[in-house]
Amino acid sequence: MTGRTRDREVVAAAVIQGRRLLLAQRTRPPELAGLWELPGGKVEPGESPADAVHRELLEELGVEVTVGERIGADVPLRDGLVLRAYRAELIRGTPRALDHAALCWVDARELREIALVGNDRGWLPDLVTLLGG
Ligand code: CDP
Repeated sequence: MTGRTRDREVVAAAVIQGRRLLLAQRTRPPELAGLWELPGGKVEPGESPADAVHRELLEELGVEVTVGERIGADVPLRDGLVLRAYRAELIRGTPRALDHAALCWVDARELREIALVGNDRGWLPDLVTLLGG
């Protein structure tokens, strides 16, 4: 520990349209490649979590979003990182896999079946509820 007083946040976005959630398939590291996640990434110094969601979705999916409420519980990661999920609503663009292998839209039933990264699995009940499922 080098004087760190707070966990650094990693944000992940639950983009929902109708009754479907947007998932992104990881390309790296090898042990996560092929698994699906809520898109996102690390909050940079001086950035708010909402700013980070906005930036990451622009970088990774080429879309603009408005960022809504937090969902689900905190997920502690290695190295003093904490993962948090936020709702996000598309306001411009069609998502493209700029940094992922593929994207898909899943309904509640498909979400329960798909291979999510381990860190995101705890959000499943919250996400299924949001999808009305
Ligand atoms: O793109 P950036 O380097 O900012 O972040 P990342 O490497 O995509 O994510 C940082 C960490 O959060 C990695 O260990 C990811 O595996 C993890 N993560 C996750 O577990 N679930 C997500 N939905 C997004 C990120």
